[in-house]
Amino acid sequence: MGFTVAIDGPAAAGKGTIGRAVAERFGFAHLDTGLLYRAVGRRMLAGEPPIAAAQGLTPEDLAEPDALRTAVIAEAASKVAVIPEVRAALLDFQRAFARRSGGAVLDGRDIGTVICPEAEVKLFVTASAEVRAARRCKELQEAGYPTDYATVLADVRGRDARDADRATAPMLAAEDALVLDTSEMRVDEAVAAAFAAVRAKRPA
Ligand code: C5P
Repeated sequence: MGFTVAIDGPAAAGKGTIGRAVAERFGFAHLDTGLLYRAVGRRMLAGEPPIAAAQGLTPEDLAEPDALRTAVIAEAASKVAVIPEVRAALLDFQRAFARRSGGAVLDGRDIGTVICPEAEVKLFVTASAEVRAARRCKELQEAGYPTDYATVLADVRGRDARDADRATAPMLAAEDALVLDTSEMRVDEAVAAAFAAVRAKRPA
């Protein structure tokens, strides 16, 4: 039977950490939907038109997720993500994943609002731009991509604005989402709140 946990929110708010923890704890499959847009962005940077890139995406495009987690690819992802045909091309895959038997966790920007409005659990994970930039800066440095806080903060703000202001599937908390502001929450507190939300909706 399907059971979907939709996790939305801006970059570096903790969606991925929470999503992975929920998937592991409850035995659900996990999809970081940002990787789909990043893979399209990378193909665009390589010269392919974005709509054709989205329509032609293959599992190999997602084979090495860490290679997709650069600032340049994030920027390209948020540019291709405003194109309605790109979003449409990625819809069926995400919907099928969401309703797979055994349960699924998807994190992104429009999971609870567009991809899976019927999700049993919806979380909107957010944090201040400054806190998110500091976290992302640390992650990028640890991954071997040297960067500085001011640049990352500007990138985070630029991406927030593009994701929130676009006409198609803007980043938005679903009306029935539980909002978790992780600015001043420890990771274990945020994860515990997510576990509680899942437990409350799971059939006994
Ligand atoms: O989550 P991540 O930072 O990897 O996403 C990269 C970009 O992909 C986001 O800035 C956003 O523009 C786009 N995206 C989206 N819808 C999703 C997931 C990601 O528009 N469900």
